[in-house]
Amino acid sequence: MINITIDETNISVEEGTTLLEVAKLLGFTIPTLCHMDGLSSYGACRLCVVQIGEESNAKLVSSCTYPAMEGLKIKTNSSRVNRARRMILELLLASCPQSKVIQDLALEYNVNQHCFKQEYEDCILCGLCVRICEEQMMAKAIGFRGRGEERSIGTPFDIKSDVCRFCGGCMYVCPACQISGTYMELEKGVFGS
Ligand code: FES
Repeated sequence: MINITIDETNISVEEGTTLLEVAKLLGFTIPTLCHMDGLSSYGACRLCVVQIGEESNAKLVSSCTYPAMEGLKIKTNSSRVNRARRMILELLLASCPQSKVIQDLALEYNVNQHCFKQEYEDCILCGLCVRICEEQMMAKAIGFRGRGEERSIGTPFDIKSDVCRFCGGCMYVCPACQISGTYMELEKGVFGS
């Protein structure tokens, strides 16, 4: 077992437990966007940041991927943490202002404006759709493609996937596009043509 302190509360947890899991166990609320129970953690959105260490050695880490380590002191709600979350939400709001999930999170953190170029993306590259397709549906119909600004999600070679079973899982978990699809729409191909 590993002993850590989270928001002044001492707790012993099993090795391999993430900071997000510990926080949840204790009832501390940490916002998440690219994390979903039952899927592997990916650490894409950084919204789940927490502060570890103290004073000049303190740093921000994503709690959904960071494992508990002996003696670690964690703050889930410091001013530095909240500043970082607000900045991330400003970026997300600039990128996907139409997302209800992002709007709700922004509201929670009093973010109602941003100083970034407004886009209307339908993907924040959180990878939830890729992971649910691979890990829950065992299909691997979609995946990440390209690098940097060219990075996107889709089927290999943009061809309609022959392993997609039209389960709709990808649409269900997406926090950005919020498509409410029908079987017919899925059959036409959300990804690929
Ligand atoms: S929820 Fe942890 S990085 Fe997105």
